[in-house]
Amino acid sequence: MRLDKMLAHLGYGSRKEVKEFIRKGCVMVNGTIVVDDDFKVDETLDEVTFLGKELHYEHYRYFLLNKPAGYVSATYDSYDPTVIDLISHHENKDLFPVGRLDKDTTGLLLITNDGKLAHNLLVPNKHVDKIYELTFTGEFKEEYFQRFTEGILLEDGYRCKPASFKLIEKNQGLITIQEGKYHQVKRMMNALDMEVQTLKRISFGKLQLPQDLKEGEYIELSKEQIQQIFS
Ligand code: URA
Repeated sequence: MRLDKMLAHLGYGSRKEVKEFIRKGCVMVNGTIVVDDDFKVDETLDEVTFLGKELHYEHYRYFLLNKPAGYVSATYDSYDPTVIDLISHHENKDLFPVGRLDKDTTGLLLITNDGKLAHNLLVPNKHVDKIYELTFTGEFKEEYFQRFTEGILLEDGYRCKPASFKLIEKNQGLITIQEGKYHQVKRMMNALDMEVQTLKRISFGKLQLPQDLKEGEYIELSKEQIQQIFS
């Protein structure tokens, strides 16, 4: 990246102003004053200082993945491929998934290197609706709608926050939850003597899984898009 671009990005002034600062010798790269505004820096490796203060350029990336089954939501696994392995076109060492989907769950998963965003979306009191499409075995009884809205009691004694369930077919539905406990949907269904057969996340807050995005494919979103979606 050009040095003037990096400084302007970091808010040190307009492109014209930062060029002036560079020409005046305010900027050092790896300990040497650089007066050339189109000097190229590796923003991830080079040490850049402005009047002695070290600058940190963070380039956040946001990927919306349609997770296929068989991949684990982790950055590293000694047995299974991870969701990060699917993000191929990028130097992906800092990326991580925002939350987890089980290995056999498919659908929308946000992958980023923006720890602050991930934290803000995952804190328990942040009520982000997650919608899952599911197929299941067992009988869905009329009374269950209310059980979901009241909060399902799991086998370990935990009472889930209110959720909503929409039955589409006899053994197919849409469930909306705001939490992300371990195997949550599967355990909620088990608590009512039903068993999940397939589970696919189709939305996360205002972020929707695009209909034409095939499993294993992803799209990149800009920081501006992400800010708009999660504002
Ligand atoms: N609930 C589950 O049981 N599994 C998931 O992957 C997500 C929600």
